[in-house]
Amino acid sequence: MAQPILHVTGLTMDFGGIRALNNIDLDVNEGEIVALIGPNGAGKTTFFNCVTGIYQPTKGEINVYNKHKGRQISLLGMKPNQVTQQGLARTFQNIRLFSQMTVLENVMIGRHCRTKSFIIGALLRDKRTLREEEEIIQKSHQILEKIGLTRYENEFAKNLPYGAQRRLEIARALATEPVLLLLDEPAAGMNPQETIELVSLIQEIAAEGQSILLIEHDMKLVMSLSERIFVMDYGKRIAEGTPEEIRHDPAVIKAYLGEEVDA
Ligand SMILES: Nc1ncnc2c1ncn2[C@@H]1O[C@H](COP(=O)(O)OP(=O)(O)OP(=O)(O)O)[C@@H](O)[C@H]1O
Ligand SMILES: [Mg+2]
Repeated sequence: MAQPILHVTGLTMDFGGIRALNNIDLDVNEGEIVALIGPNGAGKTTFFNCVTGIYQPTKGEINVYNKHKGRQISLLGMKPNQVTQQGLARTFQNIRLFSQMTVLENVMIGRHCRTKSFIIGALLRDKRTLREEEEIIQKSHQILEKIGLTRYENEFAKNLPYGAQRRLEIARALATEPVLLLLDEPAAGMNPQETIELVSLIQEIAAEGQSILLIEHDMKLVMSLSERIFVMDYGKRIAEGTPEEIRHDPAVIKAYLGEEVDA
């Protein structure tokens, strides 16, 4: 049996008296697109924050499968940059870009986590550093081409249209060559045209074998993209299944509508 690339068990996160995550078990397999959905405040972003090292969970295990080592690695106690090095890259619900840097530079920063040169190399500008710098620029160009942002390459990130800024966040995450890409509401605030373009972009990325865990409120997008849907409410799992199963699940309908409805 292939190992899941993300293997989370019993994940629990308390904020004072609030249990934002309550004993969550969630796996993502290689090449899968899994959606994480649930009403506002369900705990979806908290799940991402725990998995990516922003919060240390109260309880539970978070493991990624490391292909080179042939075993699961625990992410507990790791800082966000260490988690990125273990192959998890994310975007944020509220865009976080380096607004005073160019589009190309924003992607190059993502790429830097995959290089070996140290600060000393950057200061001395030795051969290896220069070679790596060249590789970073080339790779960043390729990613921008793939994401369709080449024409904005030298613009400051802050000057991009909103939809393009959201795509740039995805580009920066992809630059780290993630094993798993985590997207927190990538379609939030997008107009219908931008959303359509985003869906085809995610499909293209997935077609190359990229595993994706996606938080999204846009149900049309969720239903058309995901192979499996994990539904949370009040920090708990309330359902898990294919889009078709989830569409008809009474617990899901109840959570979204706040009342019992016949499926
Ligand atoms: N840093 C924090 N301190 C205290 N409470 C928090 C913190 N972060 C999240 N919470 C609480 O945890 C719960 C889950 O929040 P979270 O942001 O994970 O929800 P969400 O499912 O992402 O919602 P949305 O769809 O609105 O983005 C909420 O009750 C929230 O107020
Ligand atoms: Mg959220």
